[in-house]
Amino acid sequence: MRAMKNIVILISGGGSNMAAIVRACANEAWPARIAAVISNKADAGGLKFAAEQGIPTVVVPNKEFASRELFDAALREAIDRFAPDLVVLAGFMRILTTPFVEHYAGRMLNIHPSLLPRYPGLHTHRQVLAAGDAKHGATVHIVTAELDHGPVLGQAEIDVLPGDTEEALAARLLAEEHKLYPRVIRSLIA
Ligand code: GAR
Repeated sequence: MRAMKNIVILISGGGSNMAAIVRACANEAWPARIAAVISNKADAGGLKFAAEQGIPTVVVPNKEFASRELFDAALREAIDRFAPDLVVLAGFMRILTTPFVEHYAGRMLNIHPSLLPRYPGLHTHRQVLAAGDAKHGATVHIVTAELDHGPVLGQAEIDVLPGDTEEALAARLLAEEHKLYPRVIRSLIA
């Protein structure tokens, strides 16, 4: 691997985890650069932040592709133009095809808002409340073909408090995600 690692970050929305990674990379002088931020949605809020930081941004709009396979092929082309050592999914809300995942085997990470293996998939905060769990959390894992099931690299835990709503839980957890994700990536590239 080259000394200066290229990190490509994929987002679909606000991109607050992406922003936390961009800031940590700069503030902690990682031996890495955020080579690009790529979104499947043109209106993803995080694109503006990335552009303001001088990071190349690319939109690959999934809606314009007739199949998952065609979208994943275009996405792969867009990513590989930046020669990534690491592909970081940060609120990237797409299910990926197995060939795509295998192309990035061992170098693609995801953050999921639950204490995996509990609650893969959507609506994790709602499920935690419905189950009456005392703890909630987030997991950073290597992406494998089975959704939200790859090897775990790190977790952050929070307490579920009396009166918590989905929104309150999500907000409190997001603050922990912003510490967890940069910490895991930093240790990977060190
Ligand atoms: C984060 O909470 C992340 O864990 C979650 O989406 C949010 C994105 O926020 N990811 C998933 O649900 C993946 N299935 P952000 O765009 O502000 O980083």
